Amino acid sequence: MRISGFVKLCFSIAVLMISISACAAPMPPRAESPAPTLSPALIAQGRAVYDAECATCHGAQGQGAVNWKIPADDGAFLPPPHDSSGHTWHHPDFLLLDIIANGGQAPNSKMPAFRDKLSMTEMRAALEYIKTFWNDEARQIQWTVTLNFPPPVK
Ligand code: HEC
Repeated sequence: MRISGFVKLCFSIAVLMISISACAAPMPPRAESPAPTLSPALIAQGRAVYDAECATCHGAQGQGAVNWKIPADDGAFLPPPHDSSGHTWHHPDFLLLDIIANGGQAPNSKMPAFRDKLSMTEMRAALEYIKTFWNDEARQIQWTVTLNFPPPVK
């Protein structure tokens, strides 16, 4: 009797530990497919938009500000790189387009909102051009992130 109680206890603990480790395990990507080829027409349009509106802050090659990881004296972030050394490619398309349209999320952000200055196509084109700064690995990861984090339903 006592032994079977002990066995039951061990079994319960094992089930509990498996459940906890299943919860703690990283979620496998729900969708995975090769990143689509970038559109040459959008890239050309995006380069013009980027050079005119974004390059002064983010750098002509997307290199960002020097020492961009150190916030300015007022606590605001400096323009981060858009190339593979930055973290733009960590974010899904919808979030990047939201930042381009509505500006940075921090109250003191220096990232302007472009929704009244650029059309949606121009903002998408700028993002398409930014993607040309990424290496293959960054591009594939960002595509998978985009598939797995679609825009929230409003
Ligand atoms: C006046 C400077 C300035 C200009 C011009 C500017 N940005 Fe930014 N941008 C920033 C700063 C600073 C940040 C850092 C994030 C923050 O403060 O919210 C940022 C962040 C971003 C991010 C988020 C990056 C990430 O890794 O999370 C994107 C995307 C972005 N900018 C795209 C653009 C595009 C596209 C343009 C041109 C259409 C542009 N920016 C023009 C200053 C600028």
